[in-house]
Amino acid sequence: MKNPIDKTRILFVCLGNICRSPAAETIFKAVATKHKLNVVVDSAGTSAWHEGELTDHRMRESLQKYGYKATSLSRPFRPETDFDDFDMIIAMDELNYIDIQQLARNETDEKKLFKMKDFFIGQKADFIPDPYYSGPSGFDLVINLLEDASQGLVNHLKEKNAN
Ligand code: 4NP
Repeated sequence: MKNPIDKTRILFVCLGNICRSPAAETIFKAVATKHKLNVVVDSAGTSAWHEGELTDHRMRESLQKYGYKATSLSRPFRPETDFDDFDMIIAMDELNYIDIQQLARNETDEKKLFKMKDFFIGQKADFIPDPYYSGPSGFDLVINLLEDASQGLVNHLKEKNAN
């Protein structure tokens, strides 16, 4: 059994790290805290296009509407440290998943890769859609999907920690 003081380290990944993955980081952190789960949470982009930037203002506005506050700054995925520093690396869509998979150094790295859609409990979608070119409803949809998957991920971790 896992020592209850061991923190599970989770990294969420999308393309720009300014919309979906910082929202996943924010929402999952809130849901995990509510469930008193011991976790370390961060997010990164498969690109460095927006490195150092705050979360997109449209996503911050949507998050605020749902009672969340995003504070992280965009940073690129760093294969040389992130594969070692995290237990789970969770991609928002198929392309993010493939991009990270191609950077995996070995089977141990590959086993850490997941897709956010795999944790849906009520929602159904093949991926977390990129809202960057969408209107406000695209951002709200991402939040709804991430809330559902975050609860699913909390359930998964609780089950895993109980074994
Ligand atoms: P994200 O969204 O991957 O959810 O952060 C995007 C952010 C920026 C761009 C595309 C998607 N972009 O083309 O700059």
